[in-house]
Amino acid sequence: MQPTDKDLKEFKAVWRECRPGQLLARAKLVELAGRVLHGKKFINNVTIGDCLEVLKLIPDNSIDSVVTDPPAGIGFMNKEWDSDKGGRDKWIEWLARILCECNRVLKPGGHALVWALPRTSHWTAFALENAGFEIRDIQHHLFGTGFPKSLNISKAIDRKQEVKHPKNTPISESAKQWQGWGTALKPAVEHWLLARKPLSEKTIAENVLKWDVGGLNIDACRVETDEVISAEYGQRSGTGRYSWNLKKKKIEKQGLWNTKGRFPANLIHDGSPIVLAELPKARFFYCAKASKAERDLGLENMEAKAGIRTNAPRENEAARTKPTKNNHPTVKAQALMQYLIKLITPPNGIVLDCFAGSGSTLVAAKTLGHPFIGIEKFQGYVDIAKARLNNNH
Ligand SMILES: C[S@@+](CC[C@H](N)C(=O)[O-])C[C@H]1O[C@@H](n2cnc3c(N)ncnc32)[C@H](O)[C@@H]1O
Repeated sequence: MQPTDKDLKEFKAVWRECRPGQLLARAKLVELAGRVLHGKKFINNVTIGDCLEVLKLIPDNSIDSVVTDPPAGIGFMNKEWDSDKGGRDKWIEWLARILCECNRVLKPGGHALVWALPRTSHWTAFALENAGFEIRDIQHHLFGTGFPKSLNISKAIDRKQEVKHPKNTPISESAKQWQGWGTALKPAVEHWLLARKPLSEKTIAENVLKWDVGGLNIDACRVETDEVISAEYGQRSGTGRYSWNLKKKKIEKQGLWNTKGRFPANLIHDGSPIVLAELPKARFFYCAKASKAERDLGLENMEAKAGIRTNAPRENEAARTKPTKNNHPTVKAQALMQYLIKLITPPNGIVLDCFAGSGSTLVAAKTLGHPFIGIEKFQGYVDIAKARLNNNH
């Protein structure tokens, strides 16, 4: 893409006039910088390539939030992109180099929400810190649909001794001793690490005024409730009846009743019966995993491809690898991505996802009216993301 004279003129004008706080001008600046300096369209697009290289082409302090779902380093479904890159330290170094670029392009005080599995989320947290971010919290997403990938130890012992092990019936003496033992728990939680680029100003207020970022959009993420709650905290606070009554009187006097909902917590759940049995639904934001209809929206003209693993038994490989149009194995739900984007992105702010996959973050940003930048290494996933983004339903 060759820049025209008009592009160059416009770029110089925007570059001269763009002050840090002008969100829309910033989006224009990033768009023009891509087009004019590198012949690439970054804004509202998915750029193909290694994100470490592509990120280097984006100007400093130009992005308002990073919402991204990087690999976990566990070799999920034997995907090369999820390999551990040669072990813990190498993986952390690999991710930290990419996150360092994210940190550079993010405005001071800007937030990142970075997905991680509990098993390797400490690696992701190290990479974030090594890249210059401050870890602020962990958003926990609970779900009831996980499938335990636990090895049946007594079965393994019988297999090792070449003894036939009928369903759940240990035969050898040593297998009987280990009946009921396994190697893993049922997965029921995923993490979204909430990190922040250090402020450039002395206070949050000064930072927000200069860069438009630094805070969390609490009101946009409140959880609806019919209960009477305090405006500030969004919940009944105080331990005993006496302290609550006192507080209630004070709130009533000041007219501070909250009608907007509960304060958002660092816990999200999927609304499934199994999770609801433990948690009151009304208190937390909830969001189920992406449905097939949602994953495939906009892909009507694409062919179904093999790729997704289902929970069918190991013996039935055909049923386990079900052909589907969006064959990305880790598609995130729209409601979840919209919630996360809302929490950390100012209105009109640019959202960056440098591990875009099938484009779930980008579709959510588009729905919310945010400019977005997506980067993805594999053409097949870029095609799916672009088709989902072009969907006009
Ligand atoms: C966990 S998936 C993201 C899935 C996405 N959230 C979705 O809903 O479809 C991570 C993605 O990062 C991509 N990826 C891995 N390494 C990359 C790199 N160095 N540069 C760009 N993309 C990369 C992989 O191809 C994969 O699609």
